[in-house]
Amino acid sequence: MKIMVVGGGGREHAIIKKLKQSPKVDTIYALPGNGGIAADAECVNISAVNIPEIVSFAKENSIDFAVVAPDDPLVLGAVDALEEIGIPCFGPRANAAIIEGSKVFSKNLMKKFGIPTAQYEVFDDMEKALAYVETAPIPTVIKADGLALGKGVIIAETTEDAKAAIKSMMQDKVFGESGSRVVIEEFLTGPEVSVLSFTDGKTIVPMVSSMDHKRALDGDKGLNTGGMGTVAPNPYYTKEVAAECMEKIFLPTIRAMAELGRPFKGCLYFGLMITPNGAKVIEYNCRFGDPETQVVLPLLESDLFEIMRAVSEERLSEVEVKFSEKNACCVVLASKGYPKAYEKGFEITVGELADNADFYIAGAKLQDGKLLTNGGRVLNVVAKADSLKDAVADAYKAAENITFENAYCRKDIGQRALQAVKN
Ligand code: AMP
Ligand code: GLY
Repeated sequence: MKIMVVGGGGREHAIIKKLKQSPKVDTIYALPGNGGIAADAECVNISAVNIPEIVSFAKENSIDFAVVAPDDPLVLGAVDALEEIGIPCFGPRANAAIIEGSKVFSKNLMKKFGIPTAQYEVFDDMEKALAYVETAPIPTVIKADGLALGKGVIIAETTEDAKAAIKSMMQDKVFGESGSRVVIEEFLTGPEVSVLSFTDGKTIVPMVSSMDHKRALDGDKGLNTGGMGTVAPNPYYTKEVAAECMEKIFLPTIRAMAELGRPFKGCLYFGLMITPNGAKVIEYNCRFGDPETQVVLPLLESDLFEIMRAVSEERLSEVEVKFSEKNACCVVLASKGYPKAYEKGFEITVGELADNADFYIAGAKLQDGKLLTNGGRVLNVVAKADSLKDAVADAYKAAENITFENAYCRKDIGQRALQAVKN
């Protein structure tokens, strides 16, 4: 089988490494991939959002199956376009990817179908939004409606901050048209859990749970990033919470999407908060999370390609989806300065890693046979172990064997989860 994976970060590298384990997979192309992914797939210099070129490439190279990983090509209709020329895909069509593409859509969906989430109001008129926050409880959460590179959520600690956030989105258009409409919602508290799931629109199979670390600095301080590390499973996601989520969130969501004529096929990501009043949805993503995928897929013992094909053929209920009982930890090695300005072009050296460790490249390029840093998040070091404590220790140990100038990582990935295990 010739497979094409659209995307080019650490998440895609993890997907590709897992797909390679399938006996059915012969060749993998990555569009565009990156210098590190080039060790595991044939990288093709086509942007992940250039849908006409992606479609031409698939046609010319007789691709048997496509995996579209990032949010923007999904929201732009990459799967629709590929399916139109007869290429089976893993990933939702645009009419289902809207669950991530529009926060207004997802909030209204949850309200209509009684799926637990924060209370909210939608505004397309800035004056009304400004008047509303005058009396809204503080902190309050301001969200741009559309995609905003993961930066469209502002937690305002004061009314003044809330107003500034509204103005920056609706007047200054810092997120372009994504901020023309905003959602203003209730601030929730509690531990966060990421649950990625396979779904073919009828059956839903949650993967092992995980915990992201979004802030740049230790102790959950500093700016929000794309994610500085993850652990799986997430100890806050107990069996009881999982059962509650299946009944009140997961099944109602896929049923709602099907009822609206938008069956969701692919990986549906539930960003959950375990509040004192039960689990609530913070956000849906229409794709695998990054860097959640980097801890979840290493724990998958079943054949990822077989699962993806079953999802695409709407027979997910017939295949085995088995996860290991082990724990995994992923530490992101970033360029110093990220998520603000940083330098790139430093050589990456990878030494010997223990058998229970692996790495995925997120932002690097090959130049004259050398692997050079080429992004904010450079690579992901992952270790698996019987206990969370060992997985964390082993991931940090492995990270010591991977070096580049100006490398930065958080030193406390997994500490919050370890605290929960102890309690
Ligand atoms: P997102 O960019 O949508 O992943 O959101 C970023 C982060 O903002 C989430 O991971 C939460 O930590 C936080 N957040 C979003 N909505 C709320 C809310 N209603 N209450 C509290 N925190 C929130
Ligand atoms: N790690 C969060 C996300 O992928 O959106």
